[in-house]
Amino acid sequence: MSPRYGNIVGWGKYVPERVLTNADLERMVDTSDEWIVSRTGIRERRIVSEGETTSQLAVKASLQALEVAGVRARDLGLIIVASSSPDYLTPPISSQVQHALGAKDVGAFTLVAGCPGFVYGLATAQQFIASGACDTILVVGVEIISRFIDYTDRSTCVLFGDGAGAVVLQVSDQPSGVLSFVLGSDGSGAQHLILPGGGTSAPPTHETIEAGLQFLRMDGKQVFRFATRILGKALKRAIQQAGLTTDDIDLFIPHQANRRIIESAARYVGLPEKKVFINIDRYGNTSAASIPIALTEAIEQGRARPGDTLAFVAFGAGLTWAASVVKLGSPAEAVPVDRAWLKRLAWNPLGAVGAGLGRALGAISGSVARLVGWVRQG
Ligand code: ACO
Repeated sequence: MSPRYGNIVGWGKYVPERVLTNADLERMVDTSDEWIVSRTGIRERRIVSEGETTSQLAVKASLQALEVAGVRARDLGLIIVASSSPDYLTPPISSQVQHALGAKDVGAFTLVAGCPGFVYGLATAQQFIASGACDTILVVGVEIISRFIDYTDRSTCVLFGDGAGAVVLQVSDQPSGVLSFVLGSDGSGAQHLILPGGGTSAPPTHETIEAGLQFLRMDGKQVFRFATRILGKALKRAIQQAGLTTDDIDLFIPHQANRRIIESAARYVGLPEKKVFINIDRYGNTSAASIPIALTEAIEQGRARPGDTLAFVAFGAGLTWAASVVKLGSPAEAVPVDRAWLKRLAWNPLGAVGAGLGRALGAISGSVARLVGWVRQG
């Protein structure tokens, strides 16, 4: 079998409309815009309204990614949703997303790996494509962390925001998509970033609620130390594994947790400021959603273009980390596959010829449509 790559041919993001600014937070807790901006780089973040759910955010970002790719949900081979803040502990959010998208009977699973969940998801999707198991995969990063935040705790409430991002990977024989990845985990740091209640170790009771165990707890200093120690190294390894050097990276799109952490990682590998994408000022830390949101924005702003080599790096609860070097594809490279139509043709004696012809025509018309969309977007 010739090599199979997971080319990124579609992307999308969704953030809630409601904006929570540093000035709003000044009225809620003992903090200041100056403190938040100087320590984190955050100026505002998006917070869901009552009734909005994580799966709804995921679906909105996914629909955009599918539209950009020109791929129909029912033609997906797999859906991977990375999230630590699903609608329910069970059923998995991935099945809700699959159903809402109309991706009938498509396999779907939820991947929980903290903030690096999206990068873990990309690496996983690449394996399914490389092995020949799937041709087209949707990978989503989505969070509503705000539902687990104590808005009287200034050490956490200033940091997080809600949102979703998604990409479509499609098989290609050209070196593209995930060129390398580094995945890591160190459970000895579990207590540094933890949602203590609600799981099997502390199921919700009046007592756990009284004690506030349903809220995220964080030892910011420990997490900061861990992140600055691990991120640069992981990023460097991912670049080396891809057989590249720092100079080959067109844009560095890191997990948006803290501006100082991002700058430290970029310094470690020698990436200049102009090659670093930062949008933490507007969205805060959206956990597993932060990289796909940033990727989509970078493309929309023309800072990342088809063919560019991108570097992702993230860290988070676990503790976990992940880095990846990715070659960005183009929607024009996506191939629409109408399986139902192909199946119908297979019953026809002329099916084989018809299917070949149909696929070729479908690919041409799909590519033209996406090229038009791409030009309009640009
Ligand atoms: N406003 C004003 N003062 C504050 C605030 C606030 N919002 N929060 C904390 N402080 C105070 C502290 O109480 C402390 O006061 P003290 O010295 O009187 O005790 C002082 O500010 C300094 O606190 P530090 O923790 O030393 O501040 P630091 O410079 O480390 O910045 C921060 C804190 C921003 C949380 C930093 O440690 C950090 O970013 N850590 C990483 C956090 C992170 O990325 N978490 C998420 C990763 S996983 C994921 O993405 C889901």
